[in-house]
Amino acid sequence: MNTPVPEYLADLLQNCKAAHGGELADYIPELASADPNKLAVALTTLDGLVYSAGDDDYEFSIQSISKAFAYAYVIEKLGLKAVLEKVGVEPSGEAFNEISLDQTDDKVKPKNPMINSGAITIHSLIPTTDSTDRAETILRFFSKLAGRDLSFDMAIYQSEKDTAFRNLSIGYSLRNLNILESDPIEIVESYVKQCSIKVTVKDLVNMIGVLVNGGILPKTGERIFSHLTVRQVLTVMTTCGMYNAAGDWLAAVGIPAKSGVSGGIIGVLPGQVGLAVFAPKLDRYGNSVRGIDIMQQMSSDMGLHLLEGIPSSRAIVNDEDITEVKQDVKVYKLQGVLQFSEAERLLRKLQDEDHGDNTIIFDLSHISLVNEVGRRMLLDGIDRLRADGHDIALVDPEHILPDAKTKLNFTPKIYEDLADISK
Ligand code: DON
Repeated sequence: MNTPVPEYLADLLQNCKAAHGGELADYIPELASADPNKLAVALTTLDGLVYSAGDDDYEFSIQSISKAFAYAYVIEKLGLKAVLEKVGVEPSGEAFNEISLDQTDDKVKPKNPMINSGAITIHSLIPTTDSTDRAETILRFFSKLAGRDLSFDMAIYQSEKDTAFRNLSIGYSLRNLNILESDPIEIVESYVKQCSIKVTVKDLVNMIGVLVNGGILPKTGERIFSHLTVRQVLTVMTTCGMYNAAGDWLAAVGIPAKSGVSGGIIGVLPGQVGLAVFAPKLDRYGNSVRGIDIMQQMSSDMGLHLLEGIPSSRAIVNDEDITEVKQDVKVYKLQGVLQFSEAERLLRKLQDEDHGDNTIIFDLSHISLVNEVGRRMLLDGIDRLRADGHDIALVDPEHILPDAKTKLNFTPKIYEDLADISK
C-alpha cells in the first residue's frame, strides 16, 4: 500500500486552483513579473520526511520568511537577553514596513523581529568574519538547514536594492536612534540580499524541520537551536508572523507561521509537522491569498490548530508491538494518541513493511485519544490494505472506529482468539 499523503496534497492544489484574488507585489519591480499561476505545497514530518506537490521545484525569493531563521540564528549566537535589548516581541498591528518602535520602557526599539525595522536590526547583529559578510553568513546557514547549497537571486536583489527607499528610511531612523550601530545603507542592502535567497517549498520544509523537531535537524540529528530559541521564534511567529492579519490567521489556521511578499508561507506545528506553500498573489497585508487558503484547508483537514492538537508523546506503534501471533497473522498493537502525525507514521510503516499474505489485526485497545483525521486515515489505510488483498480485523473495545465493523473482515472467531492480546 502507499500512504495517502501525496494524493491528498495533489488534490488540495487541484481544488484550490480555482481560488482567485490578490495582486502580485509590485513595490519590488522584479516581483511584479512573477508567474501568478505557480502553486506548490510541501509538508515535513517530525522525522524529516518530505511530501510535496505542484511546482515544488520552482525557486522563488524567500523574502520575509528569512526573518524567522535570521532571528533564531542571532539568538543562538548572541543569547536571547542581548537580542531582546535590541528588538521587542510585541505585535505591531501595523503593516510590515511601518517603523513601529516600542517606547514603553526607557529604551526605544523595534516592536518585533518580523516587521522590517526589527528584521533590519536583527540582520545588523549577524556576526561576520574577515571573509564572510552578513548576507553570506546567513546564506551558508540557510543552506545548512535546507540540506543543499542555496544562492541569491541577483535580479531580485538588484531590483529591491534600487528601489529600497522605504527600507532605507527605516534604516536611517534606526541609525539616528543608535539602534543600528553602523552604516545603514550597507545594512539595508545586506538585509535585502538575505531576502533574495532562492528557495523551493521543499527547501522551506527542510529548513523548518529543525523548528518542528525542537531544535535538532531531523536529517542529521545535529542540535542547531536550543529549546529556548525554538520557543522564542515560534512565539513571535505566532503573534507577529502574519503581521496585521496575525489574529485572523491564529483563529482560522492556528499554526505559528511566517509569510513573504514573493508568495511563500511557512507553518510550524512543534512536534508534529512543518508546512510550506507558494502562490504569488497577495492580499492587502502582503500574505499569499491561495497560500492562506491551502494552509487553512490543511489545518482543518489534518486537525492542526495549535489549540486543538495534542503533541505526540510516544510512537503510535513500537517495533516490539508488531507481533506475528500465529502463522500469517500479524498484530499491530497501537498506543497513545492517534491524530494526523501518528496516523501518517503508522501508514508509512505499513507502506514500508512487507506483509506477505498476512492477515493484519489492529489492536486499538491502548489508544487513549483519536481525532477525526486520525480515524479517517486509519480507515483509509485499512481500505488500502484490503485492496492489496489482506484480511483485516480489529480489536476495538472502545469503538474507536465505529464505522469500521461493517466494512472489515471482522469475525467473532478471530476476536475470541485474540482476547488475550489486547490486555
Ligand atoms: O523588506 C522588504 O520589504 C522585503 N524584502 C520583504 C518583505 C516581506 O516579505 C513582507 N512579507 N510579507
